[in-house]
Amino acid sequence: MDFSLSEEHKMIRQAARDFARNELFPGVIERDTNMTHPTEQVQQLGEMGFMGMMTDTHYGGAGMDTISYAIAIEEISKIDASTSVIMSAHNSLVCWGIEKFGSESVKNDILTRLASGEMIGAFCLSEPEAGSDATSQRTTAEDKGDHYVINGTKNWITNGKMAGAYIVMAQTDKEAGHRGINAFVVESNTEGITTGVKEDKLGIRASDTCSVMFSDVLVPKQQRLGPDGFGFKYAMQTLDGGRIGIGAQALGIAAGAYERALAYSHERRAFGKPINEHQAISFKLADMAMEIEAARMLVYRAAWLKDQGKEYATAAAMAKLYASEVAMKTTVEAVQVHGGYGYVKEYHVERLMRDAKITQIYEGTSEIQRLVIARALRNGRVWLEDQIN
Ligand code: CAA
Repeated sequence: MDFSLSEEHKMIRQAARDFARNELFPGVIERDTNMTHPTEQVQQLGEMGFMGMMTDTHYGGAGMDTISYAIAIEEISKIDASTSVIMSAHNSLVCWGIEKFGSESVKNDILTRLASGEMIGAFCLSEPEAGSDATSQRTTAEDKGDHYVINGTKNWITNGKMAGAYIVMAQTDKEAGHRGINAFVVESNTEGITTGVKEDKLGIRASDTCSVMFSDVLVPKQQRLGPDGFGFKYAMQTLDGGRIGIGAQALGIAAGAYERALAYSHERRAFGKPINEHQAISFKLADMAMEIEAARMLVYRAAWLKDQGKEYATAAAMAKLYASEVAMKTTVEAVQVHGGYGYVKEYHVERLMRDAKITQIYEGTSEIQRLVIARALRNGRVWLEDQIN
């Protein structure tokens, strides 16, 4: 077993780290306060190949592996989780699925523009009454022979306003339940699409989250992803990979808060010595470091399994669940280590604490991850099967 990163992985980590420090750090507080989208920085990410990280070079992507992607998301999230969610939803939930299940014409046209960073993508699954219960889609896609007509409303859509293309899940045959759902690629300038107001959120405030409404939107049949009725499984498979991205985001948020707490604990003195010489603080830092390492192992392992072509859904759910809990706990403790300073924006940890919360909610709440893991265990799909057999 070799835990070392390749030279390429180290280069990607350095590039992402430099970008986060030089381009994202300045202005991160203002963007969070004013809910300002990091448009210029997202364009730069496109130029770096980070908006099509795992997409084949044939379609304008960078052709990197999932571990590279997780490393980049982790580094960016240490500084700016608003930017990392834009990148994560775009790469994992949009580019990946189009490449795997899209028609060649959609890949040559829309995917190429997405993977080069020319336009951003958004994943439209959630609805006002279909969040965790994703099979209860009310949005409809009526089959009209050579095209579909989509009607309905999607909620909480990351990249909702800025997207050039949406992946939309909609019910074609209500009687067939989840087997009647289809997934489509729809360009945002298609007639009949409107967006709601930008949500005023607790965290990841600079990212663009809104509702997207579809009213008699015509979509050519070749823009359906996969065979008829495959849309729900399409969404589930896409989310399996997405959970690696959010696991990496949670890991980065935790690591960013920990690094700040550690640095502060060296500088700040109390009762005649640096606070990290007090057991109360040093034990907190020890726990943070240990839990972040464990989260990193789970996230990288899930990414590695995906790269190896092995089953990774359960590992991804474990990685996302554990890393998000570590992110929440670590950021709360990082604020505590900073004392009163932790409660003001200038020290950054309060923002990371607010950002951490969403990692326990989106791409499946912690309860959904437990459900996914528990079902896999019940079905005999245990993650440590190699060791157990
Ligand atoms: N891969 C492939 N197929 C899968 C699958 C997977 N990971 N998971 C389920 N399926 C299949 C099942 O095999 C089943 O197929 P058959 O009937 O043919 O056997 C079918 O899908 C239905 O599965 P279930 O019976 O398990 O469905 P369910 O309704 O009981 O539960 C769930 C599914 C796990 C709860 C699912 O609804 C879920 O994951 N919900 C959470 C949704 C979610 O994560 N939303 C996030 C929105 S996107 C977002 O947050 C993006 C963002 O902002 C950044």
